[in-house]
Amino acid sequence: MNWPNQNWLDIGALNDIPQRGARVVKTVHGCVAVFRTGDDQVFAIDDRCPHKGGPLSEGIVHGHAVTCPLHNWVFSLETGMAQGADEGAVATYPARIEGGRILLDAKRLIRGAAA
Ligand code: FES
Repeated sequence: MNWPNQNWLDIGALNDIPQRGARVVKTVHGCVAVFRTGDDQVFAIDDRCPHKGGPLSEGIVHGHAVTCPLHNWVFSLETGMAQGADEGAVATYPARIEGGRILLDAKRLIRGAAA
């Protein structure tokens, strides 16, 4: 399949997600959690916590991090890395805002599906 270098997928309006909230986008390789932070930035990471599979989209957003709702591991939304003493990471995906819409890098999502 031949994909252009940039293939941004419009997944909805920024205002559809409350500040410090998230929505789940189903992709061919699993659910991606898209977060809106208190400073109106967007980040996309795998929805599945690497500890025991908790839904990170239901976690608490603070700064540019999210706390897993199950056992309180904290992940950076920027790097996907677990913070503090916990070890683990979730995949991150390029996300940006344009004209009030949230765009995800579809090419990256497809590549992830093939991995
Ligand atoms: S499942 Fe996320 S911290 Fe345990």
